[in-house]
Amino acid sequence: MTRPAILVFAGSIRTGSINEKLAVRAVEAIEQAGGAVTHISLADYPMPIYNGDLEENEGVPETATRLAETMIASQGIFIVAPEYNGGITPLLKNTIDWVSRPKTTDHRPGPFKGRVFALGAVSNGQFGGYRGLLQLRHSLENALGTLMVPEMISVPAANTAFDESGNLVAERPAKMLTTVAERLVSMAKTFAAPV
Ligand SMILES: Cc1cc2nc3c(=O)[nH]c(=O)nc-3n(C[C@H](O)[C@H](O)[C@H](O)COP(=O)(O)O)c2cc1C
Repeated sequence: MTRPAILVFAGSIRTGSINEKLAVRAVEAIEQAGGAVTHISLADYPMPIYNGDLEENEGVPETATRLAETMIASQGIFIVAPEYNGGITPLLKNTIDWVSRPKTTDHRPGPFKGRVFALGAVSNGQFGGYRGLLQLRHSLENALGTLMVPEMISVPAANTAFDESGNLVAERPAKMLTTVAERLVSMAKTFAAPV
């Protein structure tokens, strides 16, 4: 396996999202590190708010099954996650909850186990979305059993961290992005199930 398949998406679908801006930079960094990247937007996977009655009566939405299959087709997944009130955003939480519901019937690993996850965040504040990343990491690692890249990239002071072309000019975050991208590609090559 030379170029592992890496999926990248942001946990924001807002026009002008600063986390989507970092996702674009992550795509570049992962490609430079040797990954074959698929970059998606959660806007293409709309899902209703999870409700057990809805699942019981109508089943898992087609968008959740489709996203689960896209994740299963990847050896590594990079999520760039905004922070709301010190935690995970509703879009990302709802997406993860729905995607955790379809069961694979052919003994393949599901969308979470069997692949490597890396996390990043951007915010205008001083914590760079790090508290939200801790919550997201807890859920992925301790509840969903994912293998995680140890390092996480968090970018504070977003208004000065990027230049007008969207390049990440803040020195420490830029170095960290390279580190996380290289580690993701290397761990995906070593530990992820073949796709
Ligand atoms: C409901 C809400 C709560 C927020 N809470 C936080 C927070 O706890 N920490 C933080 O750094 N930014 C917080 N923000 C600001 C977001 O980081 C900011 O809106 C950012 O642009 C969202 O990411 P996006 O641009 O990728 O959509 C919050 C924004 C909203 C709407």
